[in-house]
Order: sequence, then structure tokens, then C-alpha cells
Amino acid sequence: MDIQAVLSVLADGEFHSGEELGAKLGVSRAAVWKRLQSLETYGLRVESVRGKGYCLPGGLDLLDADEIGALIKQRLGRKPFVIECVPEIDSTNAELMRRLPAGLPSGTVCAAEWQSAGRGRRGRAWVSPYAGNLYFSVLWRSSGGAAALEGLSLAVGLAVVQALEAMGVSDLGLKWPNDVWQAGRKLGGILLEMQGDATGECQVVIGIGLNVNMPEAAAERIEQAWTDVSTALGASPGRGLILAEVLMALDAVLQRFADGGFAALKSDWLKYDVCRDQLARIETGGQRHLGISRGVNDQGGLLLELDGRVEAIYGGEVSLRPVAALGNAPGDAK
Ligand code: BTN
Repeated sequence: MDIQAVLSVLADGEFHSGEELGAKLGVSRAAVWKRLQSLETYGLRVESVRGKGYCLPGGLDLLDADEIGALIKQRLGRKPFVIECVPEIDSTNAELMRRLPAGLPSGTVCAAEWQSAGRGRRGRAWVSPYAGNLYFSVLWRSSGGAAALEGLSLAVGLAVVQALEAMGVSDLGLKWPNDVWQAGRKLGGILLEMQGDATGECQVVIGIGLNVNMPEAAAERIEQAWTDVSTALGASPGRGLILAEVLMALDAVLQRFADGGFAALKSDWLKYDVCRDQLARIETGGQRHLGISRGVNDQGGLLLELDGRVEAIYGGEVSLRPVAALGNAPGDAK
């Protein structure tokens, strides 16, 4: 048995003897500790107590694809997703992109306990501690060409906040284009990767990272204010349940998007817009714009007002500042 099988034994948070684990690993009792130390790669620290054995304090909340699929089937009466949960991968987005040529069906989901090279927006890394948060990608096929995908990444953000709200999370927000915020801190992120024909069949890999139980040690690598579902709710409802809820919300949002584009979702999206009427600085294609954020248009572009003129911006990274700074910092409007 391999290290993953040992992890599923230790997931209960109880002590297990060196003998039991050695037998599972196919190594001697003496060699068990060395193998368990290799779990540090995943950011997991096993505790060893003489006479009791080994344990993972707090246990692990592992994903079970069958359970998640059954929950969705029970609630929706159909199975819109083919779900795979893998213990480790470089990036769930990269994995689905690699497997596109194999003709994966729309609705294929790849979720991982750990990503060794999780991808964030703008080339950043996405911190992915083992079984801590949710990291998953969904393949969606669309036939209307690239134009039919305008605003899709905003629509996905809406699905995530709607799912979380239904689970009792309050004070949720969306920061254009698709950062998920809770109480002013980042709770999750979305990364879309596309392939296909600009005018015909397109495949979109929708990657979602959602903080659920962020270990402090992993958080040291995050460069912005963050939070997680456990903090927002006081406890985690379980990663599998959260994943199921987000997938069901995504199913509903993707249907509305396929029927009416982002325009059909815009008024719902705007309810969560954290940039609204804020001074926003946005960097896009090497250019900087500074203005007051005035919502989004039917294509999901950010509406930025400066000197009474409103311009739509279609890509980039927003940073927010107090509106009072507008008069004081003209030098920023490069
Ligand atoms: C962001 O920077 O805000 C976007 C983060 C997206 C992270 C998710 S985790 C699952 C999927 N796989 C990846 O490598 N990235 C996305």
C-alpha cells in the first residue's frame, strides 16, 4: 500500500501503530517514521507518541467523488458532472487541458487534494495545502465561438457566491473580474483557460480555488488578505458538501449563461460588486487606468468613469483605493 493509502488511514485523526502502518506501507516498523516524514512535502505533520503510534492531529477532510456525485444526483435528479477526485496533481486546470484531445465530455470535473503547481491569475502560484481547501476544474464545451464566452468568468464567480450564501456565509462580494471576497478578504479565485475555434466549438476549463481550512503555515505564502469558509462560518460544513453545492450552483448559472449570456446574470452579479463606486486602479496590457468603478456592462467589462466619461475595460487587475485619494494622487493615473 502506498503513502496515499496511509493518509486515508491517518485521516481519522486517531493514533495508529507503527506495526499497522508498516504493514500497509510494506516496510518495517523502523522505516515507517521516515516514510511518514515525507508527508511534509504536503505540508502535513504527523505526530508520534511512544506506545501509541502515529497520528495526524485534527485528521483530514478527504474528498469522495462517489459521495459528491450521489449528493448532486439526489438533489437534482440527474448527473450533470463526471467527478474525479485525485490525491495529487500539478494543477487541475493543467490536467483537464492536457486531456482535452481525449474528447472529455462537458461536465468533467477534476478535484485534487493537493496541487504541486496550482495556477493563479496573472502567472501567480495558487497555494494548495493538502486537503485544506478546494481545488477543482470543470470542463465546459460551448458552440458559439469566443464571443459567446464573454463574461463567463464573472458568471462563475456568481455561482460560487450563490452557493456559499445558500450555505450561510454572509458578507460575500465579487471583485471584478472574479475574485470571491468575504468580509473584505479573498476567499477564492477563478481561472478560466480556453481552447478552440474563435467562431465555433470552444472548450473552457473553469478552475476554482476556494479556501476552506487554510493552515497558518501555508498561508504564509499568500501575499494578500485572505479568509476561509471555516472562519466565515465558525466551522467547515465539509469540503465534499461545499464542492457539491458549488457544482450545483455552477450547473444552474451555466444554463442561464448558455441561454442569455452574461446579460441574463448581470443584475445578480452587481449585488455582490465590491468595486461599485470605489476608486479603482486597473492595469491592463501595460496600461494603467484610474477612475470610479460604475459596475459592469452586458459583456462583463468593468465600467470605469473618469472626468464624466465612462470606459469599458475588458481585462486586468483592479486595486481599490478610498475615493478621497482621487484628488490627491493624479500621478497614479498613468
Ligand atoms: C486567482 O488567482 O484568483 C485564480 C486562482 C485559481 C485557482 C484554481 S485551484 C483549481 C484550478 N487549478 C489551478 O491550477 N488553478 C485553479
